[in-house]
Amino acid sequence: MSYLAKFRVWRGDSGEGALQDFEVEVNEGEVVLDVIHRLQATQTPDLAVRWNCKAGKCGSCSAEVNGMPKLMCMCRMSTFTEDETITVTPVRTFPVIRDLVTDVSYNYEKARQIPSFDGGDVKPGEFRMQQVDVERSQEFRKCIECFLCNNVCHVIRDHEENKEHFAGPRFLMRIAELEMHPADVKDRREIAQTDHGLGYCNITKCCTEVCPEHIKITDNALIPMKERVAGKKYDPVVWLGSKLGIV
Ligand code: SF4
Ligand code: F3S
Ligand code: FES
Repeated sequence: MSYLAKFRVWRGDSGEGALQDFEVEVNEGEVVLDVIHRLQATQTPDLAVRWNCKAGKCGSCSAEVNGMPKLMCMCRMSTFTEDETITVTPVRTFPVIRDLVTDVSYNYEKARQIPSFDGGDVKPGEFRMQQVDVERSQEFRKCIECFLCNNVCHVIRDHEENKEHFAGPRFLMRIAELEMHPADVKDRREIAQTDHGLGYCNITKCCTEVCPEHIKITDNALIPMKERVAGKKYDPVVWLGSKLGIV
């Protein structure tokens, strides 16, 4: 069963742009990205859209569908009524290059600023990782770097000026992952707070709500990281205990 859907798509570049209305055929089982591709194929051959896997795994097709940050390839048309107008706009936190494609360099710059894993002097085979520690980092490593969490976080979504000082939930989670890794010898609490703006996060949990991998970013990464930072800052016993490895 096919029908004609009403789509309103943002067209433009970094200078200016506007929403444009289209009517596009939709077939059973399709997702928003299928419809965008049909638009390209039949009405707007120059419509810019970034995508790759069409399986929710590459993180390329992030956009805002009816104002909600989504992966277009995972957003089923069956979740909308046939008479609904579906608005597709580029993610708002990053500058538009053209149409639905944004410049996400901010994220790669933040990624580069995080010191990588440091295993100290341990030689291969000398360290045995406990299953509980494997599972903890495995949750964080499900991240597909779609940057929907960074896009939705109000700290940078509404305040461009914070970008310099705030790494966003995706990279604060990366710092937390390394901090909680039992074989990483670096103390990452100071850089989380001072260089990457952990203190800006006021636990609104919007990042967790939009994560397509259902990673509990706030509860399992950001809050534990805040607790570690607070422990280091305000509690000398906790600080000493952590140094001795007893807390
Ligand atoms: Fe996307 Fe989730 Fe990774 Fe954020 S944590 S970049 S929302 S997969
Ligand atoms: Fe932003 Fe997530 Fe914190 S949305 S404010 S990083 S809980
Ligand atoms: Fe790869 Fe959507 S195209 S996540």
